Formats: sequence, C-alpha cells, structure tokens
Amino acid sequence: MSEPTDSQRMEKIVSLCKRRGFIFQSSEIYGGLNGCWDYGPLGVELKRNLKNYWWRVVVHERDDVVGMDGSILMNRAVWKASGHEDTFTDPMVDCRSCKARLRADQLVEKKGIKQCPNCGGKDLTSPRAFNLMFKTFVGATEDESSLTYLRPETAQSIFVQFKSVLEVSRKKLPFGIAQIGKAFRNEINPRNFTFRSREFEQMELEYFCRAEEGMQWLDYWKEERLKFYENIGIARDNLHALTVPDEERAFYSKGTYDIEYDFPFGRQELEGVAYRTDYDLSQHQKASGKSLEYFDEETKQRFIPHVVEPSAGVDRTVLALICEAYSEDEAPDEKGKMETRIVLRFHPRIAPIKCAVFPLLKNKEPLVAKAKEIVALLRPHMYVFYDETGAIGRRYRRQDEIGTPFGVTVDFETLGEKDPALRDTVTLRDRDSMKQERVPVKDLPSILVSRIS
Ligand code: GAP
Repeated sequence: MSEPTDSQRMEKIVSLCKRRGFIFQSSEIYGGLNGCWDYGPLGVELKRNLKNYWWRVVVHERDDVVGMDGSILMNRAVWKASGHEDTFTDPMVDCRSCKARLRADQLVEKKGIKQCPNCGGKDLTSPRAFNLMFKTFVGATEDESSLTYLRPETAQSIFVQFKSVLEVSRKKLPFGIAQIGKAFRNEINPRNFTFRSREFEQMELEYFCRAEEGMQWLDYWKEERLKFYENIGIARDNLHALTVPDEERAFYSKGTYDIEYDFPFGRQELEGVAYRTDYDLSQHQKASGKSLEYFDEETKQRFIPHVVEPSAGVDRTVLALICEAYSEDEAPDEKGKMETRIVLRFHPRIAPIKCAVFPLLKNKEPLVAKAKEIVALLRPHMYVFYDETGAIGRRYRRQDEIGTPFGVTVDFETLGEKDPALRDTVTLRDRDSMKQERVPVKDLPSILVSRIS
C-alpha cells in the first residue's frame, strides 16, 4: 500500500471529519460562512475532552492557579488600553487582477517578484493595515459611543479582573488565572480547514510572578506545555519549540516560544508561550486609573507583577489531534480478505467515545439484555456507545474510524452456554492491536477507567 501524500492525507482527514460528524462547515445549507465551523456529535466530545484535560492539569491539579470565565463583550476602553484598537492588524494587499484580498506575508515570491497565490498576478496594491477585530454596537444606537469589539483573545478579561481575582482567591505570587473561551478575529484569509478561523476558542493562562523570575517561569511553562501535548497523544518528534527571534516578538515581550506541530500542510503554531513583562497590567492601570498592584506582605512593597502567558488554540489542537491520530493499515474483512482499515489512534484520554458495547447478534434477546446491562454499568464512568447493527467486523471498523479505543462483545460464552467458567465474561478488543482478551464483566469499569485516565 503506497503512503498518501501530505495533501491527500489532509483531504482524507477533512472528508472523514465531515463523514463521521467531527466538523461541518458553518451554515452549510446556505453555502457556508468562510472561517466558521461547527463541531458535530463526535467533534464536540473530542473538543470537550481536550478542554477538560487542560483545565484538570492547569487548574485542578495545582495549588497556584484559579479559573475565571469572562464576557466576550467588554468596554471599548479595554481594547484601547491593550493596544488592540490601534495595532491589532495584519498587512493586507489586494490583487488587482483577481480582486483577492491577501495577507502580505502569504504572497508567493518568484524570481524576487511578489505574486498573487490565487492567479499569479503581479499587479498588487501596497500593504495597508487591516484591523482584525470584529466591530459591534452595544444597545439601540449604532454610533461611536456604543461601539465595541468581539474579543480577539481571552487574556484581557484576566488582566482587567486581576485585582478582583487576587482579592477573592488570596493567592500569593507566583500564581495564575486560567480561562477557556471563544475569541474572534476577522482573518483576511482563513485557511487550512479549521487552522485559521474567524471564530475559535483559546485556552489561556496568565501566570503572574516577580520580574526577576519571569524568564525562569517562561522556560518552566514551555516544558509543561510540551508535556501536555505528549500526554494527549502527540508524538514529541512532531512538536517543536521555536524561540521567536527578537525582531518578531511583541515589543513588550522579553521572550516567546511558539510551540509548533507538523501538520500535513506544514509546520505551524499550536500555542504561544510569551513572557509579557508587566505591560498589560501597567497599561490597564494607566488607562483606568485603578491600582493593579500587588502588595508583598513580607517586604511591604507594592508593584505590578510580571506575567508569563501560555496561550493555546482549542481548534488548532483538535485539528492536530485528528491529524496525529489518522492512520491507515490493513485488516481482514468478514471473509478473511485483507482490506484497508482507517483508524483514528486517539489517546484514550481524549477519544470521543471510550468504549463500544456490542451484542454478537441483535435477534438474541439474552445477548442484547446483557449488553445493555454492561452499558448501564459503564455509563457512570465514561461515554459508551451501544451498537447492535451489522456484522461484528463492520461494527469494529466503524468504531476504529472514529477512534473508540475499546470494544466489548457479548457472546454466547458470556451467557455460559459453552463453558460455565466463562459465564459473565466478555471479549475486550483493543483498537490499535485488534487483540482481544476475555475479562469478567464486573472488572470492566476498573480495567477501562485505568486505561483511559
Ligand atoms: N493572548 C495571546 C494570544 O492571543 P496568539 O498567538 O495571537 O496569542 C494564541 O493566539 C493561540 O490562539 C494561537 O497559538 C492559536 O492556537 C490560537 N489562534 C489564534 N488565531 C487563531 C485563528 N485565527 N484560528 C484558530 N486559532 C487561532
């Protein structure tokens, strides 16, 4: 079997996402809306498992981080103070030949001449700044006084609530505030499936510390974040921590890493880990006139803390998880003939469905009853799927294709019809090795929980 090329692989992934209900185009029946996506029944589970795991390791398993959930609409003054209103722009170029609007850094260059990537045209406007924030109006009037923006990042609500969260949580430096939520950017050129979208989710942590510890925490969080990606099943070889060079860093940042992943369409950023110094809190203190200082009870000093920010994209990570998991191998069909098997080799921790339960035959009542009993036994512990239709081999394949790591089959041995010693045992099939083991029904919850978490 010849290996698919990267672009064939990506096409297969996009088609699988649609066919099996991971990701659909938004407003599809009306022709879609560029840069917007809907997550179907399996996509929403995958996304939720990712966010829950992030929350677990970043908030619940630590003493030094608390969470918050800020509003998407905020006072326009926030975006003036943060610098977004003036500088959150991408350089945009128009192609006069095909009328495409392009990001200046996405032009192709041939023999030193910049060209339109769509039509090859060389008649391009000079770059001009295009602000990426979506404008909206709050209330019944539509004028400057009611103008604000959909947030382009979740971070700013953390900065402006820094003092309130500090007071209620009574944390001492270093400590962090975490948030998961939607962000919106009117990207000039959304592309690569969900990779660059106009509406997406972020998982952001603002980790406040003393100035002299900033660089140390930057390295600490880079390592923690790399570990996170490995723990959700992304191979270390496909992850890269790029040190962002001085000239490409935000002017206020003293150090930034981009965590990148080898997507089929190239190496691209999954997450930025940035040491943002005291820039954001200082800006908001200056603009609001409200103190955002920290009082150190030991030294009796007041100062604005510095911050290290690991900022990850939910949608990009979901896409990386699907790309990483997609594989094709060969397995025998019902008649023993080898056929191509599509498998999503998700880590059990993030797989949308953890276990599928099958009665061997759907017209044998005792098999069906036992299988449903097992579903009820497992449901308090995990998301389980019951399937009784079609040949058992087909049912396994359907689950392989959506990445369900375990399959439980109830057969006549479960009923004790062949060997009384096997009564109340089932076969437990492993998605990746396709090996089956016989296990007592009563042990299923503990066996599966230990393999999933
Ligand atoms: N608060 C810092 C911040 O927002 P960023 O590098 O602009 O930094 C952080 O964004 C992460 O958000 C990115 O690494 C990426 O995963 C995700 N992200 C940004 N723009 C995106 C887009 N248009 N579509 C999908 N994800 C995006």
